[in-house]
Amino acid sequence: MEKKVIKAGLIGSGFAARFHYDALQHVYSAKVEVTGAWSVTPSKLLEFTRPRALKAYDTLEALIDDCDVLHVCTPTITHEPIVVAALRQHKNVIIEKPLTGYFGDGSPGFNGDTFPREQGLQHTLESLQRMLAAEKESKGKIMYAENWIYAPAIQKERELIERSGAQIIWMHGEQSHSGSHSLAYGQWKLSGGGSMIGKGCHPLSVALYFKQVEGRARDGRPIRPKTITARTHAITRMPGYKNEGYLQTTYKDIEDFALMHIEFEDGAMASLFASELVLGGVNNWIEVNANNHRTKCRMSQNDAMLAYTPDERHFKDIYVVEKTETKQGWSFISPDEGWFHGYQHEMNAFYRSAAYDEPVESNSSLAADTIATIYAGYVSAERKGAEVPVTLL
Ligand SMILES: NC(=O)c1ccc[n+]([C@@H]2O[C@H](COP(=O)([O-])OP(=O)(O)OC[C@H]3O[C@@H](n4cnc5c(N)ncnc54)[C@H](O)[C@@H]3O)[C@@H](O)[C@H]2O)c1
Repeated sequence: MEKKVIKAGLIGSGFAARFHYDALQHVYSAKVEVTGAWSVTPSKLLEFTRPRALKAYDTLEALIDDCDVLHVCTPTITHEPIVVAALRQHKNVIIEKPLTGYFGDGSPGFNGDTFPREQGLQHTLESLQRMLAAEKESKGKIMYAENWIYAPAIQKERELIERSGAQIIWMHGEQSHSGSHSLAYGQWKLSGGGSMIGKGCHPLSVALYFKQVEGRARDGRPIRPKTITARTHAITRMPGYKNEGYLQTTYKDIEDFALMHIEFEDGAMASLFASELVLGGVNNWIEVNANNHRTKCRMSQNDAMLAYTPDERHFKDIYVVEKTETKQGWSFISPDEGWFHGYQHEMNAFYRSAAYDEPVESNSSLAADTIATIYAGYVSAERKGAEVPVTLL
């Protein structure tokens, strides 16, 4: 049988657009034709489209018209209007994490450290409602590009939960590294928050997903989050912080550490960390403690391959692993980082869904629960860790 042809368009031409384009080269569930890309900065757009022989579109509307699937690879603050515009044209949207958020009131004096968190939560819930309503009225769907969901270790654990009838009692996990280089990341008005949303969204989505899977397998309905207790800190902005130069220190008004403790409807729990405070490369992992099994899913720092060199000049121009400070000595070299992190698997699943109208595992409901939990978490952190209910939409 001939594969279905699906036309793809990329919105944005930065880091995420590049790894989306690379992951599309591995899709075999459909024949993907990348129609072109659009971005706000024409010179940067051409830098992206020229070497890939893609059409550079002048307007977002023209790109949406020409494509079946749109990839939203732009800053989070732009996600809602772009997603709604594509859904109105009944197109599928692959949207980067985080789905949406709160970016301040637009005033010059807005400060991410001090604004009332309840205001951030309410604005975010309204943004989520608008996006979910647009999806309901559309023939297209939101495909939430949470790559962790499609990481092979996570999908294997899904199978263990489903087929063993497991009850998950406690999960713990983390995404941490030495910090983001992007200056936009350090400003709440551009990022919508710090470690809790930027990094914590990954292990959180997986924890929420596993409880959805468990509930669906046993009772035909997902088990969803009930409350969150959270703490945030700005360690690299402490007056006494002694900067040795290994961690990024460019954050203006966001946290660089977050702890989230989530209680689910059935009383089970997840304890998750996210930070910019960890040396030794990206630390992406989640552990599941169930009533009949235990797993450790390690997307990074696994021992699929270890490498040793007595002097890092031997590996000078060789990519080893994300964000490691040195290549000398032993490294958790990754033989295929994108594979372990699920990037190619997620694209393959999304295009199968676009071609055959199948539901996606990483959908708008999971994305909305993730964001609603995080912004309830910011309210909790403002109250120094008081328990706050999660609003389910
Ligand atoms: N899943 C992951 O592992 C992962 C990793 C990195 C980034 N991301 C996400 O990808 C998204 C983009 O991040 P990035 O690292 O590619 O950023 P980037 O700065 O490298 O690229 C952003 C792109 O968006 C364009 N842009 C900026 N403002 C715009 C606007 N108002 N309208 C349209 N386009 C605009 C820029 O021109 C640029 O091409 C973010 O949501 C981020 O959280 C996800």
